[in-house]
Amino acid sequence: MPPPPYRRSPPMLQAPLAHDPRLPPDPHPASAPPLIEVINLGLTYPARRGQPPFCVFEGLSFTIQKGKFVCLLGHSGCGKTSLLNILAGLQKPTDGAVVLAGKEVTGPSLDRGVIFQHYALMPWRSVLGNITFAVRSRYPQWSKTRGREHALKYIELVGLGEAANKRPSELSGGMKQRVGIARGLAIEPLMLLMDEPLGALDALTRGSLQDELRRIVTETQQTSFMITHDIDEAILLADRIVLMSNGPNAVIAEIVNNPLPATRTREGLHHEAMYYPLRNHLMDFLVARSAHVERTTIHPGKGRVPPIIDVQPDPTPSP
Ligand SMILES: Nc1ncnc2c1ncn2[C@@H]1O[C@H](COP(=O)(O)OP(=O)(O)O)[C@@H](O)[C@H]1O
Ligand SMILES: [Mg+2]
Repeated sequence: MPPPPYRRSPPMLQAPLAHDPRLPPDPHPASAPPLIEVINLGLTYPARRGQPPFCVFEGLSFTIQKGKFVCLLGHSGCGKTSLLNILAGLQKPTDGAVVLAGKEVTGPSLDRGVIFQHYALMPWRSVLGNITFAVRSRYPQWSKTRGREHALKYIELVGLGEAANKRPSELSGGMKQRVGIARGLAIEPLMLLMDEPLGALDALTRGSLQDELRRIVTETQQTSFMITHDIDEAILLADRIVLMSNGPNAVIAEIVNNPLPATRTREGLHHEAMYYPLRNHLMDFLVARSAHVERTTIHPGKGRVPPIIDVQPDPTPSP
């Protein structure tokens, strides 16, 4: 059966993000069309062994602008990995479509880099070998020397210059994930997709890799979509935080703009004026509201266009 037709959404489902005035002009102004459009996406597993069909999520509609970092927060089992797999082209939705740079996603492609939680490195190849393999698939026309230089640039970027000739078995978890990040970036994808990439790491390593990721995405302006269940990680990294309700029949409940300045750092996060209002808003969603998101607003063609939330500062206590 041919896939169901999808309806193009209006040029922008969501209002553009404000640009931090302290930074140089935005190289990707928000008036540009979105890089990614997720249109009325649904995923239902068919009935099996006497069980009724299982709807993981339905009516997901949102967009991502070029150069932005978007985090997806939601409880276990709500369909985050399934959504990421669909964006990666590794899984087909049962409804709707994903459009990347004007073209519908129909399968995996090197215009999307994927970073998995469990590294997925080739154990028999060195750090450099793992990355040049990816670079060679992306740029088959390049000479060996050019591919190697390109790979080394990204190995340096993630701070692994000293370990370029080591095998994965000689690396710590944090180092392995740095290889995963370097490999994802080295193919210079339109979109970097990450499924809880720091989830398996200890707290200290996780913190330093969060700093690294923040520095790298600020430097490279890499458009990124990352699943996390760590609220502070989302606040540090994301320009926008997409909140998914509990499954089954999960929906995108809302999309929250990150009001913290682009100059934010992990150490200074809790001193930012809007940190606690934002953190409380996200926490309230996870502990209470995520179980009670109404679904009546799913439009048959457009899906459920989630509200964009600007968290308000806490009211100053009256004297
Ligand atoms: N092949 C399958 N058949 C039926 N249900 C599935 C299948 N694969 C995943 N699921 C269900 O889909 C839901 C979403 O899974 P997943 O995307 O991994 O969630 P998350 O990443 O948010 O934890 C889960 O409830 C899971 O049990
Ligand atoms: Mg998952």
